[in-house]
Amino acid sequence: MKTAKDISKMQAALLSWYDSEGRTLPWRIRPEDRAAGVTPDPYAVWLSEIMLQQTTVPHATPYWEKFLTEFPTVTNLANAERDRILTLWAGLGYYARGRNLHKCAQIIRDEHGGAFPKTEAQLLKLPGVGPYTAATMAAICFDEATNIVDGNVERVVSRIFRAEIPLPKGKTELRDFAGTLASPKRPGDYGQALMDLGATICSPRSPKCGDCPWQGFCLAHKDSVETDYPKKIKKAKLPIRYGNIYVLKSGGSVLMHQRPDKGLLGGMLGFPGTDWGDTPPAALEGAPSPRNWEKCEDKVRHVFTHFELYLDVYRSETSDQKIEGIWAALDNIADYALPTVMKKALKIAAS
Ligand code: ADE
Ligand code: SF4
Repeated sequence: MKTAKDISKMQAALLSWYDSEGRTLPWRIRPEDRAAGVTPDPYAVWLSEIMLQQTTVPHATPYWEKFLTEFPTVTNLANAERDRILTLWAGLGYYARGRNLHKCAQIIRDEHGGAFPKTEAQLLKLPGVGPYTAATMAAICFDEATNIVDGNVERVVSRIFRAEIPLPKGKTELRDFAGTLASPKRPGDYGQALMDLGATICSPRSPKCGDCPWQGFCLAHKDSVETDYPKKIKKAKLPIRYGNIYVLKSGGSVLMHQRPDKGLLGGMLGFPGTDWGDTPPAALEGAPSPRNWEKCEDKVRHVFTHFELYLDVYRSETSDQKIEGIWAALDNIADYALPTVMKKALKIAAS
């Protein structure tokens, strides 16, 4: 436990570190701009936070820019075709989030008059908005003193307190610890400062404690055991699944199908193939009509949240474009909503 005096010193040290060292991000209003009266756009913040839950700042930034250019307001997004949203989302992963994005935008348009609600509790009711996003949006956009906890915050706090209960069980304790430190003053800046600290200074493998504003308050640093935290229960290895996938070209086009809405990669485009099961399918199982399939040397390997996938890739060419499906021109394949696993298959088939 920290004393009230330590806590207020920690808050002040972190905020002043943020004022000079915090990152400049395209969706972020820096403290000096905020002081000059610039306020964050909840829609822009919401988009960035949903994207950042699944990827890094450099990977998310171009997606965020594309979305804001094409859909400058949440009502524009609500009015968009779902397939257009999924196309722009392709490559970000977790496609359920892409679909929830559209649903959430429609609820904002239809039930909230086009403006995001202003409290953590109301934000939490929106589809795709979980405890992390609700707390972060309420703090950044509406100055609510919430407790923002993401993976970066968990790591910093676990080191500060030398929290011994391993994750995932230890999450509750880390949340409580984070809550004891959270600042009611400038809550949005404080939360973003702590996430920045975790992302840039208190990194998983080589924390730069010499540059850390909390160095003097950190129990793990005191005993040089920083990287022993956060304690984690060793994860069981992911199960492996197998499948075949068929890349059929004709002229400059390639055959694809839209995947069913329900299930993995729902609503996204994919190449025809088998289901993904616990044992490898037979060669050419489920291949579209007999033709000269050639098995590619490389397999697709792709890691999803709950399993690791290996796909045997087969390729062939045909002059018969009457085969049912979507014939996508290879020249502008980037315009189609291709999930990463399908891009990997295409690359293997093309090599
Ligand atoms: N990671 C996700 N959202 C963030 C934010 N607003 N600031 C810093 N890191 C983040
Ligand atoms: Fe992380 Fe080191 Fe700072 Fe402790 S002193 S919070 S381990 S960077």
